[in-house]
Amino acid sequence: MISIPRPLIYIGGVLASLLLIPPFAIGWIRETQSTGRPVHIFWDMDMQPKFKAQAPSDLFADTRAARPIVPGTVAVGEADLDPHWSEGVTANGDWAISLPAQFKDVDKNALLARGQERFNIYCAVCHGYAGYGDGMVNRRAQALMDNADGPPNDTSWVPAKSLHDPTVRPQPIGQIYYTVKHGVRTMAGYGSQVPVEDRWAIAAYVKALQLSQDASLQDVPPDRRAGLKKP
Ligand code: HEC
Repeated sequence: MISIPRPLIYIGGVLASLLLIPPFAIGWIRETQSTGRPVHIFWDMDMQPKFKAQAPSDLFADTRAARPIVPGTVAVGEADLDPHWSEGVTANGDWAISLPAQFKDVDKNALLARGQERFNIYCAVCHGYAGYGDGMVNRRAQALMDNADGPPNDTSWVPAKSLHDPTVRPQPIGQIYYTVKHGVRTMAGYGSQVPVEDRWAIAAYVKALQLSQDASLQDVPPDRRAGLKKP
């Protein structure tokens, strides 16, 4: 049998117990609270000099660190140089009656399919899938307003307009686009949730939806008219 010299066994025992110190130290540091700054081995950009939002600064006369946007500032990619594309109006300020040039080569069926999908997500809740203003939100609000069994309800609700209303049906596609982006009267705009391409897709779908409820025989290609029955 190999005999290990006693001093080596002692040294080994001491080393083994020293190894226990780091886990205990880590456990202790994790469990105790300290107001001091934690040991920060990799600084990266964690402690760079900066002003936090709403912090004061002596650098400016108004002592605010947060600076207002310089008038005329345009974020990258946000320059509205094409009013047809971004606002749905032509150069002379009329509502656009067509899709912007950016859609020249677009697959119209794909555009309408996208518009239908987005409409069903963003608009149908109020306007209803067919656009008659009978979406779930609208029905629920009406029920709350009527509140037949309960106490009087101090609330008011402007019903979502039917998209087949005589005042909405003749609206050019540019005006529908504008309503989607900015909202109208009590309807909030969807400009911040729905990107430009999708706003146009929705507007195109709304026009198709309107046509679907107000088409005449002349709108049907002659070779398809034969099989049609009067509803
Ligand atoms: C939260 C409910 C709600 C949602 C969601 C909503 N709308 Fe509306 N919308 C309204 C209401 C309410 C009105 C009527 C506003 C008024 O008359 O004050 C309205 C009116 C309209 C009108 C008529 C504008 C006019 O000139 O009279 C159009 C077009 C329209 N919405 C399109 C849309 C489209 C497209 C979407 C989806 C992007 C959408 N709405 C989403 C509530 C909604």
